[in-house]
This record gives sequence, structure tokens and C-alpha cells, in this order.
Amino acid sequence: MHPTPPPFQALRQPDGEAAFQALRALVRHKTMLAPLAVLHQELGDVFRLSFLGFNAVVLVGPEANRFVHITARDQLCWRLENDPVTRLLRHGVLVEDGEAHDQLRQRMNPAFHRRMLAGYVQAMVRCTDRVCVTWNDLTPHDMLVEMRRVALLILTETMFKVDFSPDMARLWPAILRTLAYISPGPWLLWPGIPRPGYKRALRQMDDYLYQLIRARRTAVGVPDDLLGLLVTTPGMSDDLIRDQLLTMLIAGHDTSTALLAWTLYLLGRHPQAMQRVQSEIEAALGQEPPTLENIAQLKYLERVIKESLRLYPPIHLGQRLTATDLVFQGYHLPAGTRILYSIYLTHRQPQYWPQPEKFDPDRFLPEQNRTRPAYTYLPFGGGARICIGFTFAEVEAKVVLARILQKFTLTLTQPNVHPHMGATLEPRPGVLMRAQRQERK
Ligand code: HEM
Repeated sequence: MHPTPPPFQALRQPDGEAAFQALRALVRHKTMLAPLAVLHQELGDVFRLSFLGFNAVVLVGPEANRFVHITARDQLCWRLENDPVTRLLRHGVLVEDGEAHDQLRQRMNPAFHRRMLAGYVQAMVRCTDRVCVTWNDLTPHDMLVEMRRVALLILTETMFKVDFSPDMARLWPAILRTLAYISPGPWLLWPGIPRPGYKRALRQMDDYLYQLIRARRTAVGVPDDLLGLLVTTPGMSDDLIRDQLLTMLIAGHDTSTALLAWTLYLLGRHPQAMQRVQSEIEAALGQEPPTLENIAQLKYLERVIKESLRLYPPIHLGQRLTATDLVFQGYHLPAGTRILYSIYLTHRQPQYWPQPEKFDPDRFLPEQNRTRPAYTYLPFGGGARICIGFTFAEVEAKVVLARILQKFTLTLTQPNVHPHMGATLEPRPGVLMRAQRQERK
């Protein structure tokens, strides 16, 4: 006999005191992460959020992550029709479910195959150089802005085989507007509220992408990039291709921007780690540009990047909708329940991450990795929906950081930075650093 699961109402939810503490944390830390951490500490790994008509169940920890990504994957939908991400990406792979998702993913997988990486690395070095060449040591540079420029150039050059430089200044405000469109805001509580002021930006993005598609359809000789793959796949309409291109542009550059900016910030805050990274780069690369082979030696930098993704996972919170009635750890989750699973809170559970607030790249030494249960670390998600750009992003971070730190000594000039929940988790107000070109003997 199976015990009857407790009713949905048995899920814990904040009482007056917990709600007050959460509010205090929000005011003090200026980010929703702080109240979520307070509620998690107070209520445990499964709790219910319910305010002003917004209802969700928050899940934290490896069991929950396995449930979302593996065990219950087919009973959980990504797509929420009224969600701004769905409205923006329409039928992009990120927001599709079931067969439609798996087919799109299969079509695009070859663009992320290992054999493509060596060529991508060369593009990554070129794009980094194009941005760094504009730096001087007179005034600090905001690395959140600079890394966005690098990430945009890389994404467009590798996936669409175009040089984005001539369009960067013109489309910059439209890109930021598009990101604001999908960032958390009052529309989470009132999905139907009017969103004035975005139309023009979204149209500019569309104009750019449709023009790329048209140009590629008439081009002679199709490169084997993502755009080439899509235009040569039978049955892919311009609209469906636009949805995949915008998905890649948004999902593939904003996340990398955040990762690069946070890692530079952390290195700026920890000069010994910065020193160690630079010595490692000097020993492994000398004056040579990063390649797929020589970056394999940058083991400490790899751990720094992993620790940065642990502390500040760009996608810090994921959401799903239950398609059928489900039971998790004895709790009944009726069909239609909004699930939020927190990567950020999982990455800071003290039972898996001693002194979770501390920056300690050596947590990722192989012998330590072996002792941690699966799904305690998931900056790229997991299961069939794991980030398609997972390896690309890891290589990109190593190449860009190695190239910058090979050429420049960076010093943080404004250490007061807090995580901001935008489309990704961003360092706000920015990462101001002085960039001094290294003397060559
Ligand atoms: C630091 C960099 C990155 C991080 C932290 C990251 C994180 C993630 C996460 C957590 C997911 C899963 C979302 C979910 O399950 O709801 C995801 C999915 C996705 N990512 Fe990334 N990502 C990164 C870079 C990239 C890059 C470089 C690309 C493309 C060039 C990309 C394209 C995508 C796409 C298309 C999906 C949807 C996959 C699917 O649903 O099958 N991401 N990413």
C-alpha cells in the first residue's frame, strides 16, 4: 500500500514573521535572491510562494533538480503562453516542448559539435582582440559592457558568420530593450499588462535577423554555421529560423556576458587568484594566442570559471509548469502548478558547499568533485534540455579570459557590486576595471 501523499496545501509557506524577514532582506540587499534565501532557510527545500496572485512552488537541491530534469521531464512544460520569453522567442527551441523541442535541437546540434570548436576558438580570439584594442589605461572600463561587446561579436561570427561590428552601436539599445522585455517585472504578477516602449526595439531585432536569413537564402555556397544549417533544412520557414536565431542571440550572449563579467569581478576581488591565473597563462601560452590545445593546460582558470558559475550562475532560476498531477517527496503538485527550481540556492547549500559564500576555486579539484552528489552543480541545467551551448560557453570563457589576461593587467576600481536579476544574474552597477597593457620583454 502506498501512503496517501499529503495534500497540496501541506506545502510550507511563509508566515507573517518569515514574510517580514524576507521583505527586510529585499530592502537591505536590493535583490530578490536575498528574500528567496531567507525563505529557503526558514521553510526548507520545498515551499510555496503565493503573493498578489502569483503562485509557485520553489524547489531546491539535488533531488529536486533530478526530478525537474530527469524523472518528471516529460510531465513538465517549459512553455507558458503568456510569458514574455515565449512571446519573444515564439517557437525557439528554448520555449518548445516534447517532439517539437527535440526535433529543433537535433537540427541544430551539428553547429555545436566538437569538430566545430577549433574554428570557433580562432573567431573567439579575433573578437576579443577587436574589443580590447579600444582599451586605454586612462579611465576604467565597465567589463559588463565590454564583455557584452565581446560576446555579441563571438555569437554572431560563429553562429551566423557575420561581423556584427558595423551594427553594434545601432542595435545596442534594441538588444538591451529586448533583454529588459524578458527580465522579471510586474508582468510576472499581471501577465496581460500593456508593455509600451518595446515594439520598436523588437522590430529592429527582427529586421536585422530576417535580413540575415534573406541574404543567406540567396548566397552562393552555404557555410556550415548554424544559419547555414537552418536554411538548408527542408521545411524551415523564415519565421521559424528567425525564432532560432533570436533564441541563440539572447541565450548565447547574455549568459556569457554575465559569466565573463562576474569572473573578472571575482579575480579583481582576489588578487592572489588573479596572479595565479596570469602565471598559468604565461607558462602555458607565452605570447601564443589561445588554441583548443593550449587552453587544455589552463586548469586553474577552469576552476575559477566553475567557481564563478557556482557563486553567480547566470541562469539562477528555472521554471516549469506541471502538465499532469505529480508527486514530489510526498507533496502533491496538481497539473498547472508553476515550479521554480533555484540553481543559485542549490549552489549555496552548506551541506555540499562548505562556507558557500567563500570564493574557492579548489572546490573543483577532481578529488573534491568526486565526493559531491550529482545535481548539486548545474549552471547549464541538465537532462535533455541541458544547454546546447554548454561546451561552447566553457571554451569561450577560457579563451576570452586567457586572451585578455595575457595582454592586460586588470584592477578593480569599484568593488561595491551586487547581483541583479535581469534576464540573467548580472553584476550591478557594473564591473569597473583599469586595464593596463602588459609590457613585453
Ligand atoms: C555561461 C554561459 C551559459 C549558461 C550559464 C547557460 C545556461 C543555460 C541553462 C541553465 C539552460 C537550461 C534552461 C532550462 O532548462 O530551462 C540553457 C539552455 C539553453 N542555452 Fe545556454 N547557457 C550558456 C551559454 C549558451 C550559449 C553560448 C548558447 C548558444 C550559443 C546557449 C544556448 C542555449 C539554448 C538554445 C538553450 C535551450 C536548450 C534546450 O531547451 O534544449 N547557451 N542554457
